[in-house]
This record gives sequence, C-alpha cells and structure tokens, in this order.
Amino acid sequence: MDMKALILSGGRGTRLRPLTYTGAKQLVPVVNKPILWYGIEQIVAAGITDIGIIVSPETGEAIRQATGDGTQFGAQITYILQSSPDGLAHAVKVAQPFLQDSPFLMYLGDNLIRDRLTSFVDQFVKQSLDALILLKQVPNPTAFGVAVLNDQGQVTQLLEKPQNPPSNLALVGVYLFSPTIHTVIESLKPSNRGELEITDAIQALVNADKAVMAQPLQGWWLDTGKKDDLLAANQIILDETPGREIAGHIDEATQISGRVRVGANSQVINSTIRGPVAIGQNCHIENCFVGSYSSIADGVRMVDVEMDHSVVLEGAVIEELHQRIVDSLIGRRARLVHSPKRPKASRFMIGDDCVLELT
Ligand code: G1P
Repeated sequence: MDMKALILSGGRGTRLRPLTYTGAKQLVPVVNKPILWYGIEQIVAAGITDIGIIVSPETGEAIRQATGDGTQFGAQITYILQSSPDGLAHAVKVAQPFLQDSPFLMYLGDNLIRDRLTSFVDQFVKQSLDALILLKQVPNPTAFGVAVLNDQGQVTQLLEKPQNPPSNLALVGVYLFSPTIHTVIESLKPSNRGELEITDAIQALVNADKAVMAQPLQGWWLDTGKKDDLLAANQIILDETPGREIAGHIDEATQISGRVRVGANSQVINSTIRGPVAIGQNCHIENCFVGSYSSIADGVRMVDVEMDHSVVLEGAVIEELHQRIVDSLIGRRARLVHSPKRPKASRFMIGDDCVLELT
C-alpha cells in the first residue's frame, strides 16, 4: 500500500496564547510529550511511515528540531513549508509535490484521539473511497466543521463553523483522501474567513458524486486548542498511562501513592505525590504536595508548593506559595515566587494574554 500521511502543524495557535508566542502549539506537551508526537505514533501504528509535516515560517524550525527526521518513530519525515496560513485545503495544495498520486491520511497536529487509525485506513482502502471522514457528536458544533448524513449514513452536506448547525456531528481532524482531492482543490474559492477550507473540498467531492463516507469516532477526541482542553487531555492520558516508574531519587520522608513517574536525575524531598502524576527529568521537588492529574516537565523546581490538576512546563520555578495551585497551566521558565510569610503585596511581571485568577 502506497499510503502517505500529511500532518498539519502550522497555524498561529492564537487560542493557546501566551504559550504560543514563544513556541508551536503542537509542541506543547501532554504528559511531558509534545501533542504532535501522539499523532505521529498513531500514524506509524497504522502502518504509514512516509509522513509529510506542514510547518509555518514562525514555528517550523522548532518543530523540525524537536521531531527530527522520523527515525525515533520508525518513520521518514519530510517538512513542507506553508508560507502563509491560508487554510487546510491550501496546505494540501502546498504538499502536492510530496503527496503526488498517493492516497493519504491527513491529521491535524493539535488533535488527539483515542481510536486507533488502522480500521479507518482499512475501510478506506477496501472500499476504494475518495474520502473518509471521522465524526463525533459535540455540544458546540458552531466551533467545528459539521456534517449532515442521510438515512444510509452517506455524507450529504458539510459546513465549516456554521452559525445554525444542521447537526451536532463535528468533523474530527483526521481525514483520508484519494488523489482526487487535488482536482477539487484546484477550483476551490476562499471562504468568508479567506481560507481554502478542506470542508468545502469534501463538499465538492460529494457534489461530484465521489465516494465519501463517514465513520463515528468511538473513543474520546480532544482538540487541544485551549487551556482547559489541554488539562483534560493531560488528565485522560495520565489515566491511561500504566504503572509506576521511578528513575529519579525519592527521599524517605516522601510519600507516594498511585501511578507516579519520576524521570532521571530528579529529586523528590519531603513531599507527598498522589498519582496519577508525571514528573520529568532534572526536577527538584521539595516540601510539596503534588495532587492527581499533574504533569511537571523537565528541569522544574518546586519548593513549598501545593498543586492539583495542573501542568507545569520546562524550567519553571515555583517557590513558597501559600495558596494551592489548581487547574493551572504554567509556561516554560515562568517564575512564581513568594516570601516565606503571607505577603502584603505581590510583584508581577506577566506577559501579554496571561490569565491570573487569584481566588
Ligand atoms: C479545523 C477544521 C474543522 C474541524 C477542526 C477539528 O478547524 O476547519 O472543520 O472540525 O479543525 O479540530 P480549526 O481548528 O482550524 O478551527
């Protein structure tokens, strides 16, 4: 099977600002692993190893440096520059020299799904389809591409972010296409938001009586665009990460319960860690309570801190806070430090678009 994959990893990540001012949204970690890598692993597990990744001029280099040539995934990765964010169908157009006449799986790099991709790939190949889309019922269809099916389950209509959604079936960011998609993209016009929409391209396939099928997604689907989505993704992946794995040093005064991972060269001193929790490498955790569903990336220092259900990114420092940190996302190298006594005043240097809720 001469199937390729195309991962879209461009875009500006406006919904994850301020984190995305300094990095790609697809590299934001979920349980200490970039979101993008989950997609690559899923694609390789479905037997596809020739992978193109669409990147933007702003974040392409960071993605390439972190992800490499694909060897670590057992794949071969080709990076393809999309010089402006002109839509998902535009990305396919830019990738045409890489895709050539191959059928391909397209994967939006900020999507995480539970279902394995193998059965979708099999169906697409066996039924010689021109497109296979995956659908999931959502409470807020106005935020997505939406599909309408007829009684036989065939796709009859697709709309991108409709104001009055005709159904609650959202298009998941995983698609399978035959090379016919390139023909319809050729004659596509930009949408109201000025983009070449993949949703419109699939509608054009339907209009031309091409074989377009839809499959419901069984398991969870997370579009990790925003903070709460990211915390939810972190919680779900932690829930599914088996076992305890302690590579770093835990002192005798520390109590650990449940599924906890501590990376190499990390120290945990006089603390309570209640799993599921993941702590990266080279961390220093002292006099802390770290509650369930927290992920702490490499090189983090936390002293005298209580934390629950939060994600801390690389190199952050948190010291002597007198309030429990909950439902929080703390960026790379951020510093949250306080005096040992309850302070009368706080001094902040907070970046653009940060959100601080002092409750
Ligand atoms: C894109 C697609 C939309 C799809 C969604 C899935 O939206 O345009 O049809 O439902 O991904 O994540 P975007 O995330 O670019 O707003």
